[in-house]
Formats: sequence, structure tokens, C-alpha cells
Amino acid sequence: MKIDSICCIGAGYVGGPTMAVIAQKCPNIKVTVVDLNEARIAAWNDADFDKLPVYEPGLADVVKEARGRNLFFSTDVDKAIDEAQMIFISVNTPTKTYGAGKGMAADLKYIELCARQIARIAKSDKIVVEKSTLPVRTAEAIKSILDNTGNGVNFQILSNPEFLAEGTAVQDLHNPDRVLIGGNDAEAIQSLVDVYGNWVPKERILTTNVWSSELSKLTANAFLAQRVSSINAISELCEKTEADVSEVAKAIGMDSRIGSKFLKASVGFGGSCFQKDILNLVYIAKSYGLHEVADYWEQVVIMNDHQKHRFAKNIVRTLYNTVSGKKIAMLGWAFKKDTNDTRESAAINVAQDLLNEEAKVAVYDPKVEPAQIQFDLGEQFEGVTIENNPYETCKNAHAVAILTEWDEFVTYDWQKIYDGMLKPAFVFDGRNILDKQKMKAIGFIYNAVGSSN
Ligand code: UDX
Ligand code: ADP
Repeated sequence: MKIDSICCIGAGYVGGPTMAVIAQKCPNIKVTVVDLNEARIAAWNDADFDKLPVYEPGLADVVKEARGRNLFFSTDVDKAIDEAQMIFISVNTPTKTYGAGKGMAADLKYIELCARQIARIAKSDKIVVEKSTLPVRTAEAIKSILDNTGNGVNFQILSNPEFLAEGTAVQDLHNPDRVLIGGNDAEAIQSLVDVYGNWVPKERILTTNVWSSELSKLTANAFLAQRVSSINAISELCEKTEADVSEVAKAIGMDSRIGSKFLKASVGFGGSCFQKDILNLVYIAKSYGLHEVADYWEQVVIMNDHQKHRFAKNIVRTLYNTVSGKKIAMLGWAFKKDTNDTRESAAINVAQDLLNEEAKVAVYDPKVEPAQIQFDLGEQFEGVTIENNPYETCKNAHAVAILTEWDEFVTYDWQKIYDGMLKPAFVFDGRNILDKQKMKAIGFIYNAVGSSN
């Protein structure tokens, strides 16, 4: 089937950028992105491209090019389903907060609601594409709902997990390492291969069976997160042994079998995927009775939690075992640079720990809205101030903690920051982005993850 109309349910961090790029690269396909969230759709349609709900370098230009031409954002889910030949499901799949699998399994209620809606509306054959990261064998459940509640039309299910990383979404979509398409029907697979074939070289479009595709996505995220936890485990050892984790990472990364990427020690990984997907993998393994497999992967998350709490504990210990009443300036709230996403950000845990110790926390992030920080902290937000200027944020602080590796933090006038702080002035660099010698020369007591002072 040659595709000329696509609908995507879910206008979030995955659905929005992915569909914008498909529309940009396939001007002959009408792409409609729908969401129940009216404010979100309004923001995607905003005349001011700075107000798009997802901040990604280069995204505004892509949306500018395609919106109104063949890219549309709407809240009319039924109409978009009805019109499309191919429907991407890109809704959120949070970790379950209730019942069996609470805290571990993926909550598939939004997926199921989508499937039921598609079944109810569809009056012609549709290809349904799983874009959200899903547990293995979800396609089977979707297929069963569609076939049993549908209007007798034919549904094909494909798995097409998204590997884009936030902050580099547009780049990753324009030039993916690979596009993975899992399915059981050759014709349906080919339809989607042809869509991506508009800009992705053939040899990078990989087709597999549905289950391999679903499992590959969880596995890729588990491996990536494992690398971060591995280097973070070594960072703690470095702090005790006068080894320097950046030097260790460089030395091991030059081994081509290990590779140099994803070896940056940090305050801990965040983001909407890593923890959720690993816990999901752990849950699936357990549900098959594979307890050793489950424990093995769970350790990646345990190590990450340890790293986040250890960072906060180190601040308290270094500040003479109390931060009560002391101002601690936190630079960065997003889970990594170049995104406004704060989901599972290490900054949240560190702030919570410091607030529990009665610190006065001041936060500055170049892209995260104050309302988001308030949402992330709930009632604990009371103890927090937010300035829109980093120098004010650091003024009269006992310590500055760097939580996100924003480029601009490196170029600040650190002498000016030092001059405005209480002495001794401490810096806790959770991302190893500042120059240790320079910071020490200014007079800071500089602590970095993975090296002794
Ligand atoms: C990840 C996967 O990379 C992507 O393929 C998948 O589609 C979604 O999940 P994302 O969560 O956007 O993408 O960000 P990523 O760049 O992977 O970083 C995740 C976290 O790990 C961030 O908090 C980051 O700061 C941290 N990290 C990453 C490190 O601490 N050290 C590293 O060396 C790399
Ligand atoms: P992701 O990072 O996976 O893209 P987000 O939470 O950013 O996740 O986006 C998912 C979007 O899906 C949200 O904007 C949410 O409103 C939307 N959504 C969830 N369920 C439905 C549904 N049944 N119909 C339409 N949109 C939905």
C-alpha cells in the first residue's frame, strides 16, 4: 500500500518531533498529529515557534517548513484516525503506580484506550504502528483488541521503536543509525520501509519479527543505561583511590571493542526511558521466572539511585555535616542539556535530599519553566527559590551544584560567581564540565564526580 496519509496519536517528545520530520521529508504524505491535551496541541500550533511544547535544537525550523503544508496538529482524534491509512501510537507508557507490577511494569492503559478507539472508528484497513516503547508481546494485545472490537476491517500491526535521544532528536531523526521495523506482514512492512526510504539509506532500515523489534528497544536502552551505571560505579572507586574517572573512561574507551561513547560519569542518568524500560525488562524477566536475569538488570537502576543520593550526601558531608538553613544553588534541572524535559532528572532527587536536610535550594535552568520545577517537587517546592539569572542564583550561596551539563555553565564568569558567594565557596560538579585547575585557582573548593580533590 502506498501511504499518503498518516495519523499519530500522542503529540509528546516522541510523536511531535518524529512526525514533524516525516512530514518534512515526505511532502506528499499528509501527517496529522493528535492529542487529547488541548494546551499541547495549541502550543504545537502557536504562531510563535519559540512556544512549541518540546524544545529541541532545529525542531522549530522543521515545523516551520511543514506545518500547514502537510503537517497538522489537532485534537480531533476520531477524524484523524478515520482519514489515515497508517496510525502511529505514540502515547505515554508510564511505570504502573497501582496493582500488580506496581513500580515496575509498564502501564498500558493509554495504549489500550488508543487501540479501542482505533477499532471503533476505523472503517477501512489500517496499518497500526507501535511507536511507544512497549513490553514484548504488546502487539499481540493490540491486535486482539482491534480484531475483536473492530468493524470487520483488516489491521496490520508493526513495531517501529524510536531511538532518538532528546536534545539531538532532529539530528537523530534526519540521520538515524538504524530504523527498526518489526512485523509479520511483508506488505505492511514495505509500506513503512517506503516512508522512511524517502530519506534513510536502505541498508539502515532493518526489518525483524515484531517480538525482536519490541525487545530490541528495551535492550538498547538497558545496555546504554548499563554503561552509565558501570562508569558511575567506577567513579566512586576513583574518588577513593586518586584515579580520575575521565582518564579511566578515555583509556578504556580507546579500546574499539568498548568504544568511547556513553562513558561520562555523572550525578546519575535520568530521562523518561532508561529507568522505566529497565524496570519493565526486569518485570518481564521475573514474570517468566528468570530471577537471575531480572536481578542482573535491576542492579543498573540500584546503582543509579545510589549515585544520585551519594551526590547529595557528599554535599552535606562536605559542608561540615549540615546544610540546614544554607543556600545551595543548583545549576540545571533538565535531565540532560538541550532539552526542557525533567522526567526522572537526577536534579529532582538531589533537591529532595537537600530539602530534607533543610537546605535553602535555589535553582536555575536555561530552559525549564518554574512551573515544571514546582510540579516536580510538589509540596517540597516551598523551600525553593527560582531566579532567572545564574549570578543571582549563586549569590550568597554556600555551595553551587551542577546538575545538567548545559554549555553555558562552562562560559560563566566564575570569578564573579565566586565573589558573590559565602566562603569557603564550594562547587559540586555533577557533570565534570568545569576546569578543575581554573576553579581551584579562583579559590573554590571544587568537587567533581569521580576524582579526588
Ligand atoms: C535514551 C536513548 O539514548 C534513546 O536511544 C532512546 O530512544 C530514549 O532513551 P534520552 O533519554 O533522550 O535517550 O537521553 P540519553 O542521551 O540516552 O541520556 C540519558 C541519561 O543518561 C541522561 O540523564 C544523561 O545525562 C545520562 N548520561 C548519558 C550520562 O550520565 N553519561 C553518559 O555518558 C551518557
Ligand atoms: P513520550 O515521551 O513517549 O512522547 P509524552 O508524555 O511526552 O510521552 O507524550 C505522550 C502524549 O500522548 C501526551 O501528550 C498525552 O496527552 C497523549 N495521549 C495519551 N493518551 C492519549 C489518547 N488516548 N489519545 C490521544 N492522546 C493521548
